Amino acid sequence: MNKENWTNPTVLTDIANRFKTPLYVYDECRIRENYRTFYRAFKNRYHGIKVLYAYKANTNLAICKILQNEGAGADVVSPGELKTALHVGVKPEDIIFTNNSKGQDELKTAVDAGAVINIDSIDELKLLGDILTELGKNSRISFRINPEIDPKTHPKISTGMRNSKFGIHIEKDIAFNAYKTAKGMGNIKIAGIHTHIGSQIMDTGVFAETAERIMEFVLRLKNELGIELEFVDLGGGLGIPYHGESAPSPEDMARVVVPVIQKWTKKIDYEPQLWLEPGRCIVGNAGILLCRVQGVKKTPSKNFVNVDAGFNTLLRPAMYDAYHKVNVIGKENEEQSERYDIAGNVCESGDILAGDRMLPEVREGDIIAIFDVGAYGFSMSSQYNSRPRPAEILIRERSVEIIRERETIDDIFAGQRIPDDLKLR
Ligand code: LLP
Repeated sequence: MNKENWTNPTVLTDIANRFKTPLYVYDECRIRENYRTFYRAFKNRYHGIKVLYAYKANTNLAICKILQNEGAGADVVSPGELKTALHVGVKPEDIIFTNNSKGQDELKTAVDAGAVINIDSIDELKLLGDILTELGKNSRISFRINPEIDPKTHPKISTGMRNSKFGIHIEKDIAFNAYKTAKGMGNIKIAGIHTHIGSQIMDTGVFAETAERIMEFVLRLKNELGIELEFVDLGGGLGIPYHGESAPSPEDMARVVVPVIQKWTKKIDYEPQLWLEPGRCIVGNAGILLCRVQGVKKTPSKNFVNVDAGFNTLLRPAMYDAYHKVNVIGKENEEQSERYDIAGNVCESGDILAGDRMLPEVREGDIIAIFDVGAYGFSMSSQYNSRPRPAEILIRERSVEIIRERETIDDIFAGQRIPDDLKLR
């Protein structure tokens, strides 16, 4: 299978018939290419580059393994993601553990693993210090900085604004004092600085602005505290074109960000590594959700296409009003004569997977493909309405493989208990 034909209607129809729907389908070749394009865009401009794939976008083991093969590190946000990264062979020093609220056990797991711990508050720094003293261990850390920059994206995925819950603010010397405190802690090794201002960012200017603000602070750390950092981590966030609109490429991002870093390396007089944490732009366009039409309902005001997936399968449209391109498989060349809402099967009015779409006439039994769901698709799915989660399929160069079995109702029952006395009744 080469990269041109993984979206071929015959291929997708065969796969839907063979593996049933709803079904997530990914393309290995596209994932590898996306990774390489991103890596090269930065590596061609700056020598000390580390790309840490943002696991939250898609944690399927096969996909994480492909990216580990490519040389990616891991940006993880929970012990589960941390263990996933270790499981697929990512080296602990290439893992950064970020989260705004880490518990004692979570911190211990990260310390034991030897991952970089990305601290999000002063309380967390103190808690980590106590844990390290108790365990008699050391840890490499960075601080997540809130640079107070508007990423000009959806409010629910803006993370570095003044009122955001994430990061330590530069304002009022809060971040400066955090580094000062950490410098005095014997079991802490200050390794870097981190920021992540948001996701689905379409204006690369905000990345440049962020780099300026962070590097200015890095200079202050050197001048006033004598701290030299191993790395500067600018997070992820590069957007992808869901509507077919023009979107910045990794090249566009690197072209504005790297010169800022280079300008400041002259002022700080050393060259920290540049770490980046892309998620969406690595896996987003490498995934398609296939679902089956169970009926078409014409109401006085709308035509609904009822499918066998819902916001339990793909949450993005309900959660962020996200737009995903939709096709009726095999009818790509027919006239788009009808207006439809693609209605999910969850019992909530908000469960519309795609609203107001002009499509060829849809019939029961047709297969609908929902595009660009490789990132934050399966990873945000749930068993709401007691529906088992779908299977995941990987299209490889010479084979099609199942990389996650479809769940069954027994998977939903697993771990639940009916107290014995209730069973008697
Ligand atoms: N690094 C950190 C610390 C993050 O919080 C995120 C995403 C990333 C990297 C990767 O960002 P990306 O390159 O994928 O934009 N569920 C939402 C997206 C939430 C993103 C959360 N953080 C969606 O479906 O749009």
